[in-house]
Amino acid sequence: MSGREAHGAGAGPTGPEVGATGAGPVADPADVFDAFDAGLSPDAQHVAGLGLAADAQDLLFRRARTANTFTPEPVTDDQIRAIYDLVRFGPTGANAQPLRIVLVRSPEARARLVARVSANNAPKVTDAPLVVILAADTGFHETLPRVFPHNPGARDWYADPAFRESQARFNAAIQIGYFLVGIRAAGLSAGPMGGFDAPGVDKDFFPDGRLRSQLVVNIGRPGPDAWQDRLPRLDADEVISTV
Ligand SMILES: Cc1cc2nc3c(=O)[nH]c(=O)nc-3n(C[C@H](O)[C@H](O)[C@H](O)COP(=O)(O)O)c2cc1C
Repeated sequence: MSGREAHGAGAGPTGPEVGATGAGPVADPADVFDAFDAGLSPDAQHVAGLGLAADAQDLLFRRARTANTFTPEPVTDDQIRAIYDLVRFGPTGANAQPLRIVLVRSPEARARLVARVSANNAPKVTDAPLVVILAADTGFHETLPRVFPHNPGARDWYADPAFRESQARFNAAIQIGYFLVGIRAAGLSAGPMGGFDAPGVDKDFFPDGRLRSQLVVNIGRPGPDAWQDRLPRLDADEVISTV
């Protein structure tokens, strides 16, 4: 890959900004910096109406990559709190916010987690500066009187445990998406991993059964050979339909 991939805050190119008002396309073809590296057509780089500065678009999406290796630089609790304080404003059904974030800090906990991930993922979990378990709180309904106060009956919508768990998992998954983008907003890279023994992690880390693990994520600054070539993305025409 080219050395143009950037992962630090502000490390993207200084492209033209799509107006804060979302007005008008970015018109200068000279500013199509690496459409092909990014797997996007030049036309797609010039989409009108994105109300986000071009370098922020790069930091969050175009140049952001899933990291497989990391430098040893620590990831602090303050960084994770800053990420959470940003992404907590992402919407969830009934404002339920079931995502729980477990920072795996102790060597003992790290070893327990490594034992539960796939062979391919084990070295990554061993070496990352920070590993987190993202989990769904199946008891999220208990906080609804506080976070959805205008509807006192909302808690009762989730009386059925199976429905409650499905909603916890669904909304936590949405929040996981926000969290992954938030990691990028902090100038860090994420290595999400679904390849782990979720029932085993739940047994080890959440023995009371309330939290259900959804994803394990390595977090840090990308290290040497952190990624392979960018994989193709589906085109808009394949994904978007109108009825
Ligand atoms: C939910 C989820 C599960 C993933 N599971 C794994 C995994 O178990 N092991 C792994 O090496 N990568 C895993 N990945 C990484 C994806 O393969 C990677 O994000 C995707 O290929 C896009 O890569 P890019 O961001 O570099 O373009 C996972 C990603 C996500 C979002």
